[in-house]
Order: sequence, then structure tokens, then C-alpha cells
Amino acid sequence: MKLDNQNVLITGANRGIGLGLAEMFARGKTHLHLVVRKDEPELVTHLKNLGALSVRVWLADLSARDQVENLVKDIQSQGVIIDVLVNNAGLLTGGLIEEQPLDEIYQMFQVNLLSLVHLTRGLLPDMIKRGHGKVINNASVSAFMHFPCATTYAASKSAVVAFTDCLDLELKGTGVTTLCLITPGIKTRMFDEISKKYGKNIEVPNDYISAEEYSERVKDAILSDHKFLFPRGLTALGLGISKYLPGVFKWATNRRFHR
Ligand SMILES: NC(=O)c1ccc[n+]([C@@H]2O[C@H](COP(=O)([O-])OP(=O)(O)OC[C@H]3O[C@@H](n4cnc5c(N)ncnc54)[C@H](OP(=O)(O)O)[C@@H]3O)[C@@H](O)[C@H]2O)c1
Repeated sequence: MKLDNQNVLITGANRGIGLGLAEMFARGKTHLHLVVRKDEPELVTHLKNLGALSVRVWLADLSARDQVENLVKDIQSQGVIIDVLVNNAGLLTGGLIEEQPLDEIYQMFQVNLLSLVHLTRGLLPDMIKRGHGKVINNASVSAFMHFPCATTYAASKSAVVAFTDCLDLELKGTGVTTLCLITPGIKTRMFDEISKKYGKNIEVPNDYISAEEYSERVKDAILSDHKFLFPRGLTALGLGISKYLPGVFKWATNRRFHR
């Protein structure tokens, strides 16, 4: 899929990976729709200066089901066309399961998984009708590399991978495609939260790249119509070991973990 002139909706576009993606799409001369929790006039100007053809802000708290439904209804009732849906917004949970606050767990599943399913379900019919579109879901290496302290977060990301994979088969012949991001460590506020939430019990890896660099990789995956974007380097090695040598992966992980 080409980028120019596409209508792209990005959740969590105000910072971190979402911001990197918004900047990449802006340089690609797209119409941007940013789903954020508060007005962002400076961000709109910034993205227009980078080359976005237009920028529209949609306010929604994705942890609230009714706000996700209102967002879908507003987009549909105003006849807004979305060619690319980027489900990026996310929350991190972590720590021993009995110590993770229950409210945070529910909120995280709502944002990481349920809002992604809800938005996709809502915006897909128009894409199918037009025979054109792409759904990009931001999962994580945590979907495959299972660490202690990551129970709930990893479960949400494994579910995102399963959802996207099933959906891709369902979309056969419709002209709509999917891209699942198996995102490695990216230096964002969430990345900095990992050591705070996990560090008491496990040595946290410190391997990361910038959101800007990652967004360029996402761009290449979109232009090449790839189904998955897998990590490179050390993280790719860890991913391979977790898949093909699970015993070695578990042994190495357990050496770094204590209750
Ligand atoms: N960073 C990594 O190493 C890494 C690795 C693998 C996967 N990922 C995934 O990449 C995605 C982006 O993460 P990031 O690292 O960029 O994190 P981040 O810097 O913490 O940004 C998270 C984004 O999600 C938005 N968000 C959170 N809760 C929301 C809610 N209730 N309603 C609407 N928006 C909400 C935030 O908006 P506010 O500013 O309003 O809070 C923010 O824009 C997530 O899905 C994450 O799981 C990240």
C-alpha cells in the first residue's frame, strides 16, 4: 500500500511510538486522524508542518467502552473515510500477579485489547465496502517471549496477535489487509515504566531503538504489504530461542528472576 493521500487514524498519537508513526505518516503526505485524550493544537501544527495534508483530532478515553462506541459512531455518521487504522494506544501492567492492582489490569485489557477489537469491528465494514484498507495492530515481543511479571500484559499482546492473524484470513479477497507489529523495546515512557513495574523481581533487558527508527521500519512493512513486522538484532535472537529452544529460554529467564 502507498502512503500518500491515505486517511490514517492512529490511537495514542500524542507521544511515544504513536507520535513517531504520526510523524512518519505526516511526511508521507497523508490525512491524519489522531485519537487522543486531550486537545493537542501544537501537535496538529507540528504534523502539518511535516507535510500532513490535514490533521483532525478525535477525543476518546479508550478505557471506556461508551467512548469507543461514540468514536466509531461519530466517524461513521460524519462519513469520514479511514483507509488505515493504527491501533497503537497501550498500557503496561506488570509485577507478581497477586500484586498487580485489579483496576489497572481491567483498564489495560480494555485499552490494549478490547478497544482495538471494538475499533476494528466498527471501521472495517466501510473498508470492505470500498475494497481498500489496512488494519495495523501494535502487539509486542511479549506476545511470544513470556517473562515472569508480564502475565497480564503478555496475555493482552498474545491476544492481539491471535486476533490479527485470524482477521487476516477472514479478509481474504476483500482488498483489506493487516499488519501486526511484533514491537521490540522502543525508548518511550512505557519502556521506562518496565523497570519500575518489573525491576523488583526480574533483571530487565535494556535493548531498545527510538520511535523514529521503528516508525521507518513500519513504513517499509506497509509499503511492502507485510503481514508481520518482527524485530531485528538481539531481540530477534531472543525471539528465536523462545520459539525453537523454549527450555533454554525458560532457564535463562528464570536465572534473572526471584520472587
Ligand atoms: N515501548 C516499548 O518498548 C513497546 C514494546 C512493545 C510494544 N509496545 C506497544 O506500543 C504501543 C505504544 O506504546 P509506547 O511505548 O508508545 O507507550 P507510551 O509512550 O506510554 O504511549 C502510550 C499511548 O497510549 C495512550 N493511551 C493510554 N491509555 C489510553 C486511554 N485510556 N485512552 C486513550 N489513549 C490511551 C497514551 O495517551 P496519554 O498520553 O493520554 O496517556 C499514549 O499516547 C502500546 O500498545 C505498547 O504496548 C511498546
